[in-house]
Amino acid sequence: MARSGAAGRPGLLLACGLLLWGATGGASKVEVSMLEVVEVELGQTARIPCNFSLPEASDYAYINWFYIDKRSRTKIYYMVRGQVFEVDTEYKGRVAMEDDFTLTISRVTLQDARTFVCQVGAGSLGVGENRTKLHIYKTPEPPEIQVNDAGIPVTSKEIPKIAVCISKNGFPAPNITWYKNGSPLWQDDTKISILSTLIKESSGLYTVSSTLFARVSREDRQSRFHCAVSYCLLGADQTAVSEKVNVTVFYSTEKLSLVIRSPQPQVREGDEVTLHCEGDGNPPPEYNLLKVQEGAQAEEKDLTSSNGVLILRKVKKEDSGRYLCRTFDLDSMASLEATAELSVNYLEGLKITPEGPIQLQQGEGLALTCDARGSKPLELRWKKEKKGKLLGHGKQLKLSNVTLESSGNYSCEVSVAGVPGLSRSKQVYVAVHAKPQISPKDSLVPVKQNELVTLMCRATALPEPTITWSINGTVQNHIDHHHIISNLTVQVTPELLQSGVTCMATNKLGTSSLHITLQLRTTTTSPPPIGNTTEQKTQESKGVIIVAVIVCILVIAVLGAVLYFLHKKGKIPCNRTGKQDITRPDARKDEIVVEVKSDKLPEEAGLLQGANSEKRPAGDQAEKYIDLRN
Ligand SMILES: *[C@@H]1O[C@H](CO)[C@@H](O)[C@H](O)[C@H]1NC(C)=O
Ligand SMILES: *[C@@H]1O[C@H](CO)[C@@H](O)[C@H](O)[C@H]1NC(C)=O
Ligand SMILES: *[C@@H]1O[C@H](CO)[C@@H](O)[C@H](O)[C@H]1NC(C)=O
Ligand SMILES: *[C@@H]1O[C@H](CO)[C@@H](O)[C@H](O)[C@H]1NC(C)=O
Ligand SMILES: *[C@@H]1O[C@H](CO)[C@@H](O)[C@H](O)[C@H]1NC(C)=O
Ligand SMILES: *[C@@H]1O[C@H](CO)[C@@H](O)[C@H](O)[C@H]1NC(C)=O
Ligand SMILES: *[C@@H]1O[C@H](CO)[C@@H](O)[C@H](O)[C@H]1NC(C)=O
Ligand SMILES: *[C@@H]1O[C@H](CO)[C@@H](O)[C@H](O)[C@H]1NC(C)=O
Ligand SMILES: *[C@@H]1O[C@H](CO)[C@@H](O)[C@H](O)[C@H]1NC(C)=O
Repeated sequence: MARSGAAGRPGLLLACGLLLWGATGGASKVEVSMLEVVEVELGQTARIPCNFSLPEASDYAYINWFYIDKRSRTKIYYMVRGQVFEVDTEYKGRVAMEDDFTLTISRVTLQDARTFVCQVGAGSLGVGENRTKLHIYKTPEPPEIQVNDAGIPVTSKEIPKIAVCISKNGFPAPNITWYKNGSPLWQDDTKISILSTLIKESSGLYTVSSTLFARVSREDRQSRFHCAVSYCLLGADQTAVSEKVNVTVFYSTEKLSLVIRSPQPQVREGDEVTLHCEGDGNPPPEYNLLKVQEGAQAEEKDLTSSNGVLILRKVKKEDSGRYLCRTFDLDSMASLEATAELSVNYLEGLKITPEGPIQLQQGEGLALTCDARGSKPLELRWKKEKKGKLLGHGKQLKLSNVTLESSGNYSCEVSVAGVPGLSRSKQVYVAVHAKPQISPKDSLVPVKQNELVTLMCRATALPEPTITWSINGTVQNHIDHHHIISNLTVQVTPELLQSGVTCMATNKLGTSSLHITLQLRTTTTSPPPIGNTTEQKTQESKGVIIVAVIVCILVIAVLGAVLYFLHKKGKIPCNRTGKQDITRPDARKDEIVVEVKSDKLPEEAGLLQGANSEKRPAGDQAEKYIDLRN
């Protein structure tokens, strides 16, 4: 085992490798182990490993790398005694060897798809080699599908073209498979034909294109076609699929139908009705819409329709009848027909006999008859006024012993059985003539003297009565059919209180009147009725108050008199301040002197003290008066 100082890392590792193999193996020859195939994507770096084992105690090795081209081999890279050398070939600059003797080729091209040989020499012990095939691949571009958009007739004689699928720039050449509704399609000479072409581009990459020809049926209008490109990658199958497309299929009409569309199942006069002729062919055929004229000999009348659609905007009963849709198929030379029956419900000729307005006398009777024609049995209902309550069913309504209240509009409502929304109504006015009647209300009216009072008189009669009042005043009348309300506004005078007022309602059948009595309203100031305890109580309390006031006045008067008397006697000074003393010195001087002197008169002093409620020292007062004298 030899180690060169200039060996470097590959040399060192080589030595280690030799040691390892020598220790583990018991091989007597040089054995090289390599992968059969290495795959790499175009433009990437390929790695070709080379493992080898040497017999024990071998001490020297070299490694040569070749590629094989048409049986001749070309050396591209080698290592001797740990030193590496690149041969001047097309690989110069692109090859290198890793620490574990793996050859790397960077930026691989399609030409690199060849066999590479790793040769290991161990001097006298011999030489060993093995080889690896380098596969270059390139993922093709996703497939593009172009559908035949001209439309395909089901009756086409040759197998029609469905679509073309192209996948560009793959390596190696990929395959294209066709699918219909997810199931693969295979060539079969009668129904399906697949034509594939392979183009080698100048770059060396392959573009595959495939054209699908297939017979189509009516059902294929819903079919979805797609293609898939499949290629091998690292030993595994890969696929890329195109978008799904459908084809336009032309086929003749086999079924024809004529449909009547209306707002509700039962067609009414005035509804908008659409007749729709529909065939199942593609493209839709030309339609002929006809009306079958019933009669001695059935004849057909052409109707103008657009694409088999006829709109009857306001359908009339005359539009009822049999309609026919007809089409002629040019392929099969066959004529197809579809029919439909339109029946328009109607309601007409509504009238009431006798015709209004009808005049009756009170107590008379009458039979009203309602008549109409309709497409189906009719339902008749009678009502007083349109929204009034139901009076009866059927054609006839009998009125007997009529009164004024029987007057009004009698309405006959007709509807066609089983046809919702088809109804009409008519009414007749019945007037029952009667002499006036005055409501006996408010015949006693409470009033105040001189006030303006409004008197009301209510009368019912037909013909409409006139109301007159027995006195002059402002009159306001309100008339509602056979009711009249008359208001009279007058001032209350004594004469009026005495005479009262009469209201008179008159029509050609008679007169009735109402006498209204005015009564003075009792006022709050009027004397109270005897025996009302509440009133008595208030009266008593009033008396008590008066007595109390008088007593008070008397007490005050007595008190005033007493005070005056005391004052006149001079026992009460009006005020005790010095100022007042100064203003009236003479009068006081004498009195005080008298007081001071009369110390021996306790009665008088006590009286003085009680009135003044203050004792004054005698000396003080003496001093003051002395000063004033000076
Ligand atoms: C080449 O290497 C493979 C895989 O290690 C091995 O099976 C085969 O025997 C080798 N061939 C030669 C000629 O040594
Ligand atoms: C080479 O040796 C390494 C390590 O022992 C092993 O992982 C690899 O699979 C071997 N390669 C071949 C081609 O025998
Ligand atoms: C392509 O089709 C051929 C023939 O059917 C087949 O031999 C080949 O393996 C296919 N290749 C791929 C990549 O599927
Ligand atoms: C494919 O089908 C779609 C709807 O299903 C339709 O709108 C379209 O026109 C069809 N295309 C062709 C080519 O028939
Ligand atoms: C007619 O109606 C009036 C008043 O309602 C009544 O007095 C009279 O008996 C009725 N006559 C008949 C025949 O019913
Ligand atoms: C009766 O009908 C007529 C016309 O619709 C209307 O003018 C009149 O007011 C109605 N009379 C009554 C009492 O409803
Ligand atoms: C009502 O007034 C008219 C004139 O405006 C008069 O001729 C008539 O006598 C008055 N009648 C009464 C009842 O006062
Ligand atoms: C008549 O008087 C009554 C009550 O005083 C009042 O409700 C009514 O509207 C008046 N009618 C007319 C027509 O003035
Ligand atoms: C007394 O007068 C009051 C109101 O004025 C009244 O509600 C009450 O009924 C009267 N009582 C008697 C006994 O008349």
